[in-house]
Amino acid sequence: MADPYAFWRIAREQAPVFHSPRLGYWIVSRFSDVREVFQDTDTFSASISITPLKELCPAAVEELVKAEMAMGPSLVNEDPPVHTKRRQHVRNALVAPRRIEAVRPRIRELANRYIDGFIRRGHADLVADFAWEIPALVAFAVMGVPDEDVERAKEFSGRLALFTWGYPSDQDQTQLAAGMGQYWTYAKEHVQRRLTEQTDDYISELIRSWRSDGNEELFDENYLITTMMNFLFAGHETTTNATANGMRALLENSAQWDALCADPSLVPNAVEEILRYSSSVIAWRREVVKDAVIGDITIPAGSKVLAVTGSANHDESVFPLPERFDITRRNARKHFAFGNGRHLCLGAPLARVEMQIFLEELSRRLPHMRLVEDQTFSYSPNTSFRGPDHLLVEWDVRNNPVEADWT
Ligand code: HEM
Repeated sequence: MADPYAFWRIAREQAPVFHSPRLGYWIVSRFSDVREVFQDTDTFSASISITPLKELCPAAVEELVKAEMAMGPSLVNEDPPVHTKRRQHVRNALVAPRRIEAVRPRIRELANRYIDGFIRRGHADLVADFAWEIPALVAFAVMGVPDEDVERAKEFSGRLALFTWGYPSDQDQTQLAAGMGQYWTYAKEHVQRRLTEQTDDYISELIRSWRSDGNEELFDENYLITTMMNFLFAGHETTTNATANGMRALLENSAQWDALCADPSLVPNAVEEILRYSSSVIAWRREVVKDAVIGDITIPAGSKVLAVTGSANHDESVFPLPERFDITRRNARKHFAFGNGRHLCLGAPLARVEMQIFLEELSRRLPHMRLVEDQTFSYSPNTSFRGPDHLLVEWDVRNNPVEADWT
């Protein structure tokens, strides 16, 4: 996790498709092969995409049973044709441009409120002090979680990468399962509240969609609760990690950071290059439902595939000098950080806006920040979610450029 890119380069050159007995997965690392896995939904099913790698221990199961948690499928692990029908409604409810526009001021307000919390201190951990909570709060705002419930809801969103994509100890697994159980109970309450009274939030919009003519069979209450669960998991750690990866890349390449601080119009492409260069989702799973051939390797039906999007994003046949971080790279947006094809991340427009606003506000108020020297970066051990646990930065408060930040 500390630096998987050198290893993936060797894989792309010498064994672009290979089987890992330890994981029990076929590893696919080239851009064109990863794209094929995503595009061919008849052969590569999404069914296993969020099934925990490690089977649940009895104590973890007990936590989920206690909470009467009955997670069903939701878009991310469904296949056509039901996926296609449901996705259309979820997309309309979630990422209508007016919804993104409506949440923009809230994101900026949150970013500035969190910066206020540390700007006079002269140092911060950009994960704990900034990037960890805001994406969760944005997700709550979109789902319509009332302000008075946010503190409670916040407690449930633990680090779930380890739960789904790693091999946690039984103790960690049980603790994470307990948090999920509590969040399930909360999501159920919220959905039931919205079934009685709708507002203009995402969950209300989905309910309206479900109740419109011809859609009665498309959803049920359990589907809505599962959707609310997955929404937080899909939108939280992914965006936190992407922001932290991005700030690390920018500050390690200080000429790029200085250029961005001098010219905020570089921000949108910088976000794409961050997602390409150091994506927060680096691998995604598929189940092979009929024999497949990738390159000259046959993968039998019933196998599991790990499509290494992080490697595809560094494939030199698509991205020249891939190890170079360049916020003006012309084709940066071709990355697979959000997947590709039918399941392409539905939250991408929201994630992009969040990251853009974070960079705009951090570069405006803290252009003089730098990485604390000699820090080591630690990562949660898992196959798919990548971002540093901490990102320590410092600056001279006397040089804060916004007057209100030093008076
Ligand atoms: C930088 C942040 C994010 C990254 C890197 C990311 C990445 C991904 C990836 C790799 C997939 C699977 C795509 C596939 O199977 O082809 C996905 C799916 C999804 N993401 Fe995101 N995501 C991010 C943020 C978000 C946010 C903020 C939300 C919610 C607003 C969200 C909601 C979803 C949903 C609903 C799906 C399932 C789409 C489907 O299966 O049809 N994501 N995301």
